[in-house]
Amino acid sequence: MKDTFYITTPIYYVNDKPHIGHAYTTILADVLARFHRNLNRETFFLTGLDEHGQKVQQAAAERGVEAQQHCDEMAPRFMKLWKKLHISNDDFIRTTEDRHKKVVQEILKRVHDAGDIYEDEYEGLYSVSEERFITEKEAESGEFRDIKELKEKNYFFKMSGYRQRLIDHIETNKTFIQPEHRKNEVLGFLRQPLADLCISRPKSRLNWGIELPFDTNYVTYVWFDALINYITASGFGSNETLFQKWWPASYHLIGKDILTTHAVYWPTMLMSAGLELPEAIFAHGWWLMADAKMSKSQGNVVNPMDLIDDYGVDPVRYYLMREMVLGQDANFTMESFIKRYNSDLANDFGNLLSRVSTLMKKNYDGKIPEPGELNAAENEIKNTGQALISNLENKIKGMKINEALEDIMQFIRGVNKYMEEQAPWKLVKEDKESAARVLYTAGEALRIGAVLLSPVIPNRSAILIEALNATDAALEWGGLTPGNQLRDHQPLFPRI
Ligand code: ME8
Ligand code: MG
Repeated sequence: MKDTFYITTPIYYVNDKPHIGHAYTTILADVLARFHRNLNRETFFLTGLDEHGQKVQQAAAERGVEAQQHCDEMAPRFMKLWKKLHISNDDFIRTTEDRHKKVVQEILKRVHDAGDIYEDEYEGLYSVSEERFITEKEAESGEFRDIKELKEKNYFFKMSGYRQRLIDHIETNKTFIQPEHRKNEVLGFLRQPLADLCISRPKSRLNWGIELPFDTNYVTYVWFDALINYITASGFGSNETLFQKWWPASYHLIGKDILTTHAVYWPTMLMSAGLELPEAIFAHGWWLMADAKMSKSQGNVVNPMDLIDDYGVDPVRYYLMREMVLGQDANFTMESFIKRYNSDLANDFGNLLSRVSTLMKKNYDGKIPEPGELNAAENEIKNTGQALISNLENKIKGMKINEALEDIMQFIRGVNKYMEEQAPWKLVKEDKESAARVLYTAGEALRIGAVLLSPVIPNRSAILIEALNATDAALEWGGLTPGNQLRDHQPLFPRI
């Protein structure tokens, strides 16, 4: 494994405004990027937009504007949402940018020079909605819409020639396709004969794309164009030093809907171009609404803006990370959102802060009190905290985000229980020194919890740390400074 961390999201189609599914993948990538930055790994986090192809051309035509104008109007909507969601991406790529067109043409030349591109007349079934030729069997599956018969001359990439090499690569590199069941799905797919990939569209039918360098009557198939974004942004063809530094990517994060393009098309394209394959492709499941996939065509999408306006960014981030087991589908319901919010964020986390700060304000002049000697109960909290810190790295590296969050909340719940047992609100009347020890311990546990949760709830963590006037963000026991004045703060997570 490289010591740098390069993570990507899919680049989203600009045929419509972003929805919670797009927000999910982007937040997940952001959370991972932030965790890795906290582990002191130099990190490059890329997201962006897929602006070519039929879907986008159609969306523009429906609005009665030029395709480029349509893209220019849609792009800020995504960028604005990412800003609002505290997305800390290092670059934002749009496939209509010159830097990208150049790279796509360069890769096409390379693949052409390698003898991997040929011209052929193709007659068969074509799915307009999926923008690709499909087999009879696929047509019968009912999963494809807008199917028509098409006969035309096109360019093909000899993907079939890389089949065995790809199988070998997947079998040798156990973590190349994650999670395991997706790897098996791809291997199953590769057990059947692999067809070549049609990589062109005649301009007579579609002109919204990147022109083929070896035939100006054609534009590049949108997927061949889009996948290349991952190397454009990391410096291929423009900055060799950067490219050496970042490529191969550590993770291509995707939804399971685009597994074949990433796990089959992309690696074989890279093989033909003589480039290294990404280290890992991780396909997460879908957010469902009443057990149906949330998607534009289903008309059941949740608008992330509404949720954020009502409940704040961080609770939405927390819910999405906590509720989905990475790799499986999850149901989005308002009921589970509110339940999660109230139980984890309001009751366990927010409540602990308000208890601690109220007692410190009332009994210790609003200052962090001296901890004194720790007893067995405090040492247990301290040790649990330290174990949590060292286990978290493995959970994150193993992509077990929801478990990592549960571990942190378990720790916070333990501290609440400790507060109940010690009852510092009573203790302070008989033994102020002992009550000080309890409050320091609870406050310090909160500080550690906030630092650990900061990749998920960056804003609210900062409020908590500010409230405790904690200048030390170290993940080691004892970061709260006795004598520091507490600061006023807004309620961390008011109950819904
Ligand atoms: O496929 N649940 O773009 P796209 C979870 N442009 N994630 C979801 C989701 C849901 N219900 N719906 C969408 C494309 N997503 C291509 C990608 S990459 C070189 C080109 C997320 O706008 C998920 O990450 O259709 C999925 O893979 C992606 O949005 C598809 O976005
Ligand atoms: Mg899609």
